[in-house]
Amino acid sequence: MAKIARGLAGVILTETRLSRVDGEAGELVIGGFLLDDLAPFALFEEALFLLWNDRLPNASELSTLREQMVSARTIHGITRTVLEKAAERNLPPMDALRIGVDTLSLQDADPYDNTRATNLRRAIAIAAAAPTIVATFWRLHEGKQPVEPDEALNHAANYLYMLTGEKPHPDAERGVETYLNTVIDHGMNASTFTARVIISTQSDMYSAIVGAIGALKGPLHGGAPGPALDMVFDLQKRVAESGNSISQEADAYVRQVVQADGRIMGFGHRVYKVRDPRADVLGRAAEKLFMGAGDTQLYEDARRVEKVVIQVLEELKPGRKLQTNVEFYTALLLHGVGLPTKLFSPTFAISRIGGWSANVLEQIDEGNLIRPRAAYSGELGRKWVPIEERAD
Ligand SMILES: CC(C)(COP(=O)(O)OP(=O)(O)OC[C@H]1O[C@@H](n2cnc3c(N)ncnc32)[C@H](O)[C@@H]1OP(=O)(O)O)[C@@H](O)C(=O)NCCC(=O)NCCS
Repeated sequence: MAKIARGLAGVILTETRLSRVDGEAGELVIGGFLLDDLAPFALFEEALFLLWNDRLPNASELSTLREQMVSARTIHGITRTVLEKAAERNLPPMDALRIGVDTLSLQDADPYDNTRATNLRRAIAIAAAAPTIVATFWRLHEGKQPVEPDEALNHAANYLYMLTGEKPHPDAERGVETYLNTVIDHGMNASTFTARVIISTQSDMYSAIVGAIGALKGPLHGGAPGPALDMVFDLQKRVAESGNSISQEADAYVRQVVQADGRIMGFGHRVYKVRDPRADVLGRAAEKLFMGAGDTQLYEDARRVEKVVIQVLEELKPGRKLQTNVEFYTALLLHGVGLPTKLFSPTFAISRIGGWSANVLEQIDEGNLIRPRAAYSGELGRKWVPIEERAD
């Protein structure tokens, strides 16, 4: 029988110029830049341009992209209406984003045009509108009036502004900018694969992005940062009750979860067998933010918890090489900039739309249908029995 590649682990699907994930060295390259050389410096609009065009923009190209994105930020009536319904029904924010992005196809001037220029325009429109969709849903969900986008603000700052109604502190703006750049693309992860599979059937950009949002929603992919932060808060609560140190509480917690066959959120990765390089970039951004705000308790507690989790996982799961992944410091950083836990995954999606759309463009150029096989393990030779002759 043919060898089965369960979960497609280790299978190389295609070539990409978008990002390179080296799981052994713990290194991430995005569009030719080491993550450390890009994420802390770029505007998110520059990172988007880089993935879509394979080079950094010059000043006039950046200003054109900015204008295109600013004019696509405002959402239309039908999108607003579905977000009102989603808020009324208290849907998960990822569902609201998925439904909201789907409605953007209603505004498409030429839904049958499949040229690269039109698909790039769609990518820009979806990337530009996604923060407005999330922020509008969230404010409606919280019983507040949505805030119109501010064209003077960059993508990251405008997202924070639409959520809070206040111009963000420069440190918070830089924190979100760094976060969005850090998670914009990451090899052939589950949601990117989903987007590629969908577009490989010659479907369309909206379907590919909507499908990818669905794939990102699950806790084994993009849904982990909320629970990772809740774990630290929960441990802080236990410390207040027991008088133990946070390291002692973390030690007991990891043993308890692993004994019950559970997983510690924010640790382990399919590809990285060393520390996820994104955790370092986000960890440094979080440190800067918390130090700047003069509130270091949560940051220091998180560092202590991280140390203990790694040690105890190595003891209980020797050789599995379970290290901190991107989600742990995502949680800390996004909490530090004032985002509610429920918006962590949609914020991840707001960034990854850049990677998904660039992968969609790459897959269109490649032109191959992605169609693996399955080994049949069911019955053979069954004989048809009329319904009246079947046993009860
Ligand atoms: C990310 C993840 C799905 C990768 O999983 P994977 O490569 O398929 O690894 P496996 O599920 O085969 O796990 C290998 C072993 O390590 C254990 N393991 C993996 N991650 C673990 C975690 N976070 N906590 C405890 N044990 C873990 C598994 O139980 C398994 O143990 P076993 O060999 O005794 O059966 C997994 O590490 C995980 O669930 N992490 C927590 C969720 C998370 O942080 N997701 C965000 C990812 S960026």
